[in-house]
Amino acid sequence: ADSVEDALDSLRAGEPVLVHDAADREGETDLIYHADSVTPEAVARLRNDAGGLVCVALGHDLAEAFDLPFYTDEVDHPASGDHELGYDERSSFSLTVNHRDTYTGITDNDRSLTIRALGEAASTPGKTDFAEEFRVPGHVHLLKAAPDLVAQREGHTELGVALAEAANLSPAVVVCEMLDDETGEALTPVDARAYADRHGFTYIEGSEILERLG
Ligand code: 5RP
Ligand code: ZN
Ligand code: CA
Ligand code: ZN
Repeated sequence: ADSVEDALDSLRAGEPVLVHDAADREGETDLIYHADSVTPEAVARLRNDAGGLVCVALGHDLAEAFDLPFYTDEVDHPASGDHELGYDERSSFSLTVNHRDTYTGITDNDRSLTIRALGEAASTPGKTDFAEEFRVPGHVHLLKAAPDLVAQREGHTELGVALAEAANLSPAVVVCEMLDDETGEALTPVDARAYADRHGFTYIEGSEILERLG
């Protein structure tokens, strides 16, 4: 079987997939679930086993429908003036949110509630009053994909949303970088693949997604 198909099947089945972007980009592997599948246990896996920043990537049109901007376009502070990144043209960060039914927003239950509600909003954007349901700032970082996805930007934001769309799921995925507890660095592709094998999860290279969906 081919790993892109395995990744689509996994996302549809509510399982996470591991996506390594590229050695010459971030060189990171993100643990990714479709937003609809997230549970408090999944949030615990993201913070314990991945360990990076828990973010929800949304398709561009969906983010626009909810009036969600790129963070860098909204912040009028000198530190936001020159967005030089070593690995890409620009950051995909948008706002941070909590669902209004959360308390602090950070617990596994609260983040799961926020992420699942984002998944639901993504499948019924016309029925969602975003500001009525979510408050800013919050504890879930939103990421906004480039309009033409991987044709324009090859980040986990676009790779994850492209996989969701190819799986016929709504364009909302949760992503979190896998870090190595020993070194503090990004988990190496060899170790990320071993983690995937141990748990029966799909590991996939960004290049395989680009070949099939690019
Ligand atoms: C937010 C990030 C991650 O790398 C995430 O994968 C989204 O960024 P990108 O689309 O640039 O890969 O920095 O935690
Ligand atoms: Zn990153
Ligand atoms: Ca850990
Ligand atoms: Zn990334």
